[in-house]
Amino acid sequence: MSLLHPPGAPSAQPRGAVDLDRFRLRSYLAALGPDELEVRDEAIDLVDVARVFEGNPRAVLLRRVGPEGAELVGNVVGRRTRIARAFGVAPADLLPEVTRRLRSPQPIIEVSRDQAPVQEVVRTGDEVDLTRLPVHVQHGYDGGPYISASVDYSIDRRTGLTNVGMRRLMLRGVRETGIDVNAPSDLRAIYEASARRGENLPIAFAVGSHPIDHVAAVMRLPGDELEILAALRGAPLGVVKCVTNDIRVPADSEWIIEGYLDAAGMTEPEGPYGEFLGYYGAVKKNPIFRVTAITRRRDALFQTSTIGGRSLGLTDTAQLNAIRTEVMVWRSLETAVREPLAVYATPSSGGAYNVRIALRQRVPGEARNAIAAAFSCLANVKHVFVVDPDIDVFSDEQIDWALATRFQGDRDLVVQSDMRAVPIDPSLEGARTTAKAGFDLTVPFGGRGIETMVPEPPTFEGKRFASVRAALEDGPKRFEELVAAIGSRDGRDVVRELETLRAHAAIGRDAEGRYLLE
Ligand SMILES: Cc1cc2nc3c(=O)[nH]c(=O)nc-3n(C[C@H](O)[C@H](O)[C@H](O)COP(=O)(O)O)c2cc1C
Repeated sequence: MSLLHPPGAPSAQPRGAVDLDRFRLRSYLAALGPDELEVRDEAIDLVDVARVFEGNPRAVLLRRVGPEGAELVGNVVGRRTRIARAFGVAPADLLPEVTRRLRSPQPIIEVSRDQAPVQEVVRTGDEVDLTRLPVHVQHGYDGGPYISASVDYSIDRRTGLTNVGMRRLMLRGVRETGIDVNAPSDLRAIYEASARRGENLPIAFAVGSHPIDHVAAVMRLPGDELEILAALRGAPLGVVKCVTNDIRVPADSEWIIEGYLDAAGMTEPEGPYGEFLGYYGAVKKNPIFRVTAITRRRDALFQTSTIGGRSLGLTDTAQLNAIRTEVMVWRSLETAVREPLAVYATPSSGGAYNVRIALRQRVPGEARNAIAAAFSCLANVKHVFVVDPDIDVFSDEQIDWALATRFQGDRDLVVQSDMRAVPIDPSLEGARTTAKAGFDLTVPFGGRGIETMVPEPPTFEGKRFASVRAALEDGPKRFEELVAAIGSRDGRDVVRELETLRAHAAIGRDAEGRYLLE
């Protein structure tokens, strides 16, 4: 069965000057194999949905959810391989590709409403009913069902620029939800400014987006964030004006939920909610989002994002946080050190708390500079591990080995107290600032004798000679070089020749262990 369209749905899409099919969520899913996407055709109740996603390494497309038989996909970017695939690169090349695309602007093209797939079906006012959407309860103590794959678009009236983020929405009724804008963010600042003026803040949420749009949404970079979306897509971005406000949203989204954040302020309890660090966030006072319209494609696909639980590394949220953290850390390293090589934020730490950096130290102290830069570029970065170029930052095994063999606790540990904290870290026990720790796992600068060299299988390369004696007359040689010198395919013959030689001449060893004629 084609994933591109559900059975019986019309397949023709209106087209304009911009390709409005290439970056639709369904097109991305259609290219995933069974190793990355699980498709379930059987009917499933909303109460059973959370268990399907928990700890699941694959994205899951549920084709008959609830009494409406709705389509719902989740965990779309719960693995780095799937984000990398969206960008057309291998997982290890994701960060360089994202930073490359961020430097290459792309046009934003506004299409008319009749061209926009996401406005094929429009419901406004009393026709709006959020409780008809396939929104499930994600965690046992959550304050209600949450829309979680919701990318928010709003306009900063001060600058006229569009702000884009991701914010979860807790269903409160048929036309209102809670929204968490508690943490410092651009949206929070924009909302507070409009609430101070006594004005509601128009906002729109896309649900059902290409993975690249999610990556763009979590970036926190200056400028118009629609431009970040276009740049990261590496292609022109088709946008359409919402039907009940002037916000421009991607015209190829699956669903758009339009409305406004009520000017009344942070007045209503929202939460608890299973958070990205693997614990619950408590009930907070937050604004109300009031819905004025829901628009969608005719064959719209709803989306949920996984978050929280015991398998953080397999959640959308941790994977998205990771790439965002890596971009921010990379940017800070570009000025702090000469030759940064790789950055990896482990998804199992929520995609931010434990960060690994590989660099080539050109001068002593650069590992410390890298640690300081990473500490300060993002509040979420808490532990930083810096390694030499020979360590693969993506390998838990190699990082463990580097920690075991290149680190002295009283020499290579950097601790900084009282830095800005993210309050949901339970180890803070209520404190408002956090300690950060840096682990310098680099080999002491300039100290690379044989005892810090890594054994590799021999390659037996080198000059050829008529005999071991002739080879040693040429100069000191390692055993491997002697084997190569006589073209041996064995090695034990060199032992025998050395023994014979020893009877006639003095064979010595130098500090590197090379054989020599004395
Ligand atoms: C799936 C997902 C859900 C998120 N939900 C929230 C949220 O409810 N509240 C929040 O403050 N940040 C949330 N975030 C993080 C913000 O989207 C992120 O910090 C973003 O960069 C903020 O954008 P802004 O500063 O431009 O407003 C979420 C991130 C992801 C990946």
